[in-house]
Amino acid sequence: MKNLLAQKTLQFFVKENQAARSAAEHADIIAEPGFGKHFTDHMVDICWSEMGGWHRPRVQPYGPIELDPAAAVLHYGQEIFEGLKAYRHADGSIWSFRPEANAARMQRSAARMALPELPTEYFIEALKQLIAVDSRWVPSAKEMSLYLRPFMFAKEAFLGVRAAKKVNFYVIASPAGPYFAGGVTPISIWLSTNYARAGKGGTGAAKTGGNYASGLIAQQEAYEHGCAQVLFLDSVEGKYIEELGGMNVVLVKKDGTLVTPESDSILAGITRDSILQLAEDRGHKVERRKVSIEEWRDGVASGEITEVFACGTAAVVTPIGRLVGVDFEAGDADAAAGPLTLSLREELTDIQYGRRADPHGWMMRLDA
Ligand SMILES: Cc1ncc(COP(=O)(O)O)c(C=O)c1O
Repeated sequence: MKNLLAQKTLQFFVKENQAARSAAEHADIIAEPGFGKHFTDHMVDICWSEMGGWHRPRVQPYGPIELDPAAAVLHYGQEIFEGLKAYRHADGSIWSFRPEANAARMQRSAARMALPELPTEYFIEALKQLIAVDSRWVPSAKEMSLYLRPFMFAKEAFLGVRAAKKVNFYVIASPAGPYFAGGVTPISIWLSTNYARAGKGGTGAAKTGGNYASGLIAQQEAYEHGCAQVLFLDSVEGKYIEELGGMNVVLVKKDGTLVTPESDSILAGITRDSILQLAEDRGHKVERRKVSIEEWRDGVASGEITEVFACGTAAVVTPIGRLVGVDFEAGDADAAAGPLTLSLREELTDIQYGRRADPHGWMMRLDA
């Protein structure tokens, strides 16, 4: 669906939050933010209608969204979102990492979910407008950041299966500490064979809530088996690895080759793309292809596969120590994190936090 008013410049109306958190409340939250628990004082809200295109961009106090009980999203799940971070550099400036890639992915998700595409410049401007009022929420402590959550959903009140004619786009933000409380230590992964996350021709490549909702039951199975995350297989043959509930997967072979699943039903992770680029820059071979679960299991057993890691914006890079299935276990939960996993993680986070050069021009300043 094309936006009708893409050529209009976005003039944001800003309404300051008169009930913003006090300096003391803010200091308490920032000291130990956890992940996804606390939100900043403001949010962005932009309306879209079939007739008027994108309009009424504003920054307003963070708070509940009024919804008609017949709002289409509540019934038909027409919704998409994104996730990226704002990082504070040593000089106090605030940056984000490849935000145009998130904007482009949101446009692809929108196209798949029959939602309007938000132009990249609107997406970026929305982030900058939010940072302009909520900059104090970007932490400066090590490995901390402000997690930015743009999302869009069908707000039109109607019961009937068709694309909504009224949609809103929002951005909220949440100060974030490390995603996994245990730090960068290997995690155990549960192999889901009862449930698939996405199917052929489905919405697996879109960042839409339904994909996550359908994976929750498998995530519960993972917890029951002492695992932190769930690994999904392809839904056609049940043979090839796809991704985790919220992260992509990369295997490292003993010759230094990095292998990652290629599939049109997984989310094209920006972290994965960046990590693989950094590995290629170092001279590593990278293979994007189908990867069977046997290749993982047998490779770990034979020593052909030396490291496995998961990657995504929230946790950056997380080593996978052990894979657990209904009738097998591979790897060792107590094994040390792999050296390549750790050094690629360090290189990427150094770029994100401005501690080393950014050779690919990935960083974009948000506060200037
Ligand atoms: C299902 C899924 N796969 C992969 C990723 C990784 O994507 P990115 O690296 O862009 O955060 C995410 C989001 O973080 C995700 O939700």
